[in-house]
Formats: sequence, structure tokens, C-alpha cells
Amino acid sequence: MTKIRAGGEPVRKFLIEHLAEHPTDIVRFTAEKFACTRQAVHKHLQRLISEGAVLQSGQTRSKRYQLAPLVRWNKQYEVGSSLAEDAVWRREVEPQLGKLPENVLYIWHYGFTEMLNNVIDHSGARHVSISIKKTAAKTTIDIYDDGIGIFKKIQAALQLEDERHAVLELAKGKFTTDPENHPGEGIFFSSRIFDQFVISSGEVYFSHDFDEREDWILQASSASGGTLVRMVLHNHTARTLKKVFDKFTSDDDYGFTKTVVPVKLMRYGDDNLVSRSQAKRLLSRFDRFKVVVLDFSGVASVGRAFADEVFRVFKAKHPEVEIIPIHASSEVKRMISRATTLGASGG
Ligand SMILES: Nc1ncnc2c1ncn2[C@@H]1O[C@H](COP(=O)(O)OP(=O)(O)OP(=O)(O)O)[C@@H](O)[C@H]1O
Ligand SMILES: [Mg+2]
Repeated sequence: MTKIRAGGEPVRKFLIEHLAEHPTDIVRFTAEKFACTRQAVHKHLQRLISEGAVLQSGQTRSKRYQLAPLVRWNKQYEVGSSLAEDAVWRREVEPQLGKLPENVLYIWHYGFTEMLNNVIDHSGARHVSISIKKTAAKTTIDIYDDGIGIFKKIQAALQLEDERHAVLELAKGKFTTDPENHPGEGIFFSSRIFDQFVISSGEVYFSHDFDEREDWILQASSASGGTLVRMVLHNHTARTLKKVFDKFTSDDDYGFTKTVVPVKLMRYGDDNLVSRSQAKRLLSRFDRFKVVVLDFSGVASVGRAFADEVFRVFKAKHPEVEIIPIHASSEVKRMISRATTLGASGG
């Protein structure tokens, strides 16, 4: 009896996590994974069905299973002086989310209030719609405003050539169009804490996925005006806000002093990273950090002038900023060591 219980929790967790990709063969798939009988898996599946977490349809041989939506809720608000993010959280959103582990609820509190505050302070929107969808596996919150559009706003503020370049600035962190009132941290941390974080606005779709290997995706979108932010988080995760904040502090001052920049995001609109002006675009605002980790995943090569500007010229001008390349291909490494050797020999 106790034996079944001990194994039951991981089996049910596995069922919930994999049901969406295996709606018809989930029993066989799970039995193989746990090296147990299909009958044993069935028992756990039946329990999830009786708990209302899983829905079953179809007849014997063609049975299909899917996660039951536990919560489906949406509401539109007028954006005005009476709209306050913490009140919406406390009165409407938190009660809708229902039971969740404390660390998960805390992440939602942070992400939701940051993103609704952005609508109130930056979007110029008249309306904002909030929608919540929760299944036994995960929760999704969408916040859509009909304002100016985030990438357009940043593009105008920085006079960027391409709307997509705004994404790089958000990924660097400490970017704000209102420095008197904001430090520019909300999107940086929110985008790194959820399993999926998406912003779609104008012609740009930007997504960060927190898998075994984090990934950044940037592509064209068909959305028109306004800004859509989507946050997705598994209901059971060991992640905590503190752990994510700690990743971006360089020593024990607990400040936001370290950033990780996905260099890959530079490549959109610029196929090859070759010139000094591209390097300067990458380097802008790096001097606000003590440590900048440059993640070269997905970048096969860089040109000499680009590498020279990043790893020699900038370093000479800003010796207090440490730049650490990671996931560099052998070709990128070669360019970096060439630039740093030149730097060391005073050339
Ligand atoms: N919904 C939105 N519509 C238009 N622009 C937005 C929207 N959300 C964010 N922005 C723009 O993106 C910038 C960065 O947002 P982010 O939340 O990261 O920082 P912030 O709000 O400026 O500062 P903080 O969140 O630390 O208070 C904002 O300064 C603003 O220019
Ligand atoms: Mg903000």
C-alpha cells in the first residue's frame, strides 16, 4: 500500500507533464518510462480523472486524454488613475490562481504586478485585458494592452533603425524610458523567471523559454497595435525569485550588477556580426554593470573588427567592466583571443 503511494506522486506528475504531447498513448509511454505495467499507470490516470484534473473522451481503443482547465478567467479594465496593480492582484488575480506552492505564487505576484505596472506607467493604453488559464500542470497569464506598443516606444526613445533592436536592449537589462521613476528591471527579471515569457507587439514576437537550455526566440509577428505579454509557469517548480535575482549579482552587494546578454539577438536584421558599429550597439550601456556575460550560443562566427571593438577597445576604455564570453564556437574563440592578444601587446 505505502509502496504504491511512494511511487504514485512521480507517476502522476509525469502523466500531467506529458499528457499534452501524448493524448492517445500516454499510458504506454508512461509505463515504458517507469518500467511498470500499463495497469499500474491506469490506476494513477483514473485517480487524476476522478480528481477532475484530467478529461477523458472517446471509446475504448480510441480513448483520448487531456488536462482539464481548472481555471479560465478573463476581464477587461480601463486604464486610469484608479487602476493599481497590487489591488488587481490581491482582489482578483490571486484568488483566481487558487492553491499553488508559496514560491510559485510569489513568482506570479512579482511578474503579474510588474507587467501590469508597465501597462499603467508606460503604454498609454485605454484598456487592458487580463486572462488566466490554469490546468493541473501549468498556469498562463496574458496581459494585453491597446497602447503604443513596447517595441515602437523603445525604438522611438533610442532612435533605433529596426524595431527588433529594442529586444536586445530589454535583454541587457537596466533599460527604461523613464529613468526618474524606474530602474528598468521588470522585464529583465520577469523574462528570466517564467517557463515561458513572450512579448508580442507590432511586427515583433519575442520569447524566452526556460528549458534545460534557455532559449531566446525572435521572429515576425502578425499582431497589430498594443502589447501582449504572456507568462507561463509550471505549478510545481523549485525555482524561486531569490535564486533568479542571485544569478545576476556579481558579488555580495546583492545589487543587479551582472547581466547575461544573448548575442544571438543581435543577428536579427544583421546577418553577420562584423562591424564596429554593430559592436557598439551591443556594448551600449554595458558600463552600468560590473560583469557582462556574453552568451554566443547560436553565433557561428564574428568578424575581426567586431571582436576587436568588444574585447580590446571597450576593455581598454572600461577596465572596470568584466566581459566573459560563454558558449563560443571555436571560430568565435579564435577571434576573441586574437583581439585580447593584441590588447596585451599594446597593439
Ligand atoms: N506595455 C508597455 N507598453 C509600452 N512600453 C512598455 C510597456 N512595458 C514596458 N515598456 C517599455 O519598456 C521599458 C522597460 O520595461 P521594464 O519593466 O523592464 O522597466 P521599467 O518599467 O522602465 O522599470 P521597472 O520595471 O524596473 O520599474 C519601459 O521603460 C518602457 O519604455
Ligand atoms: Mg516595469
